Amino acid sequence: MENKKKIKVGLIGLGTVGSGVFKTLKNFDDIEVTKIAVRNINKKRDIDGLDNSIVTDDAYSVVNDPEIDIVAELIGGLEPAFDLIVTAIKNGKHIVTANKELLAKRGQELFKISEQYNKVILYEAAIAGGIPIIMPVKTILAGNKINHIEAIVNGTTNYILTKMDVQGASYEDVLKEAQQLGYAEADPTGDVEGFDAAYKIATLASITFQKRIDINKVYREGITKIRANDMEAANDLGYKIKLIASANMYDNGDIDVRVHPMLVSKKSTLAHIDYVTNAVMLKGHPVGSITLSGPGAGEFPTASSVVGDILAVAAELGKSEYILPMMRCKHSEDANMIDIADTTNKYYISINAKNNKGVIGKIGTICADNDISLESIVQRCVSDDNTANITVITELVKEKNMQRAIKLFEQDGNKVNSLIRVQV
Ligand code: HSE
Repeated sequence: MENKKKIKVGLIGLGTVGSGVFKTLKNFDDIEVTKIAVRNINKKRDIDGLDNSIVTDDAYSVVNDPEIDIVAELIGGLEPAFDLIVTAIKNGKHIVTANKELLAKRGQELFKISEQYNKVILYEAAIAGGIPIIMPVKTILAGNKINHIEAIVNGTTNYILTKMDVQGASYEDVLKEAQQLGYAEADPTGDVEGFDAAYKIATLASITFQKRIDINKVYREGITKIRANDMEAANDLGYKIKLIASANMYDNGDIDVRVHPMLVSKKSTLAHIDYVTNAVMLKGHPVGSITLSGPGAGEFPTASSVVGDILAVAAELGKSEYILPMMRCKHSEDANMIDIADTTNKYYISINAKNNKGVIGKIGTICADNDISLESIVQRCVSDDNTANITVITELVKEKNMQRAIKLFEQDGNKVNSLIRVQV
């Protein structure tokens, strides 16, 4: 048999994902991990088959190594990841990364440099961990016009919301428990405030709609204000509450990308995606509606995507000068992104009103004055302090009108507990 040259891979990062990638790549005879950069070289690592002589704490020795063909960046964050990737590209290496923050914030610069140097950057692992979504959108779904994405792309928040739903517990209690079990980080901000999901949907929308998405224009709202009572009310009304990352392209080309909690109909697939599982639902023509679900994080699921990308590059190396044309990012048009204030949504509103005669009538009048049509209005209970808890579901209304009505409800002496958008 011909003695084929092994493809040499350098890893930057040997944490959860890096270890999974190293262990998985051991199964491939024609791929060799020749250098691994770590932050702390003295840390004890119990990884089968790891030769410590290839481990370094100098990440630049990986990206500057002339022998390495592919660099997998698995450390996350903006710097030094950005500079390491740029250096690697300039040194002739193809890149595989799991870094969603970097792609969302500086992807444009990176893709420009990779084109200049005729190198590819693949990032299947950056969006929904083990779920294949980037490669399918760029290849087998390329014949579609996809105009709608709805997704659960953050496992931490989905775990918290599922537990709140199942246990009837408060956000604070479930967060504490999730932190103790290692499902949520000590500083959970990136997950619970929706940053992580926003990075992922921004990148996914950009490749799906083939327009540049400005991460600063992605509307973002986390799950910290969701109350156990909202979960209960949603259930009674036939919904589950999920943190949904969505992207829409309207007929005029305008694009709406956002992350916020949403009441999702129990009849929809996303309502049944629980705990740390992720799912991405796409609607397009001619395919119709499809949902891919699976593990959105973790050592081996994420390694599956990183290794898939490494193998895709490895399979092409040496065949032609311009490899993986389908996987390249060639769009250069900025998306015209619409502000949340200009969108139209259905809403769930929970109001505590003084238990006087005519309170429901007053709420109805404010809605009518602001062009808000109601689907349902229910007085759920009267509390000990003689306030009535009223739950409203609207029909489709303008966000601006809704926000104006909320102010008026409050000026009228009511307490607005929650305003959550409802899946349409
Ligand atoms: N922190 C993310 C989540 C996993 O909770 O889903 C990595 O993207």
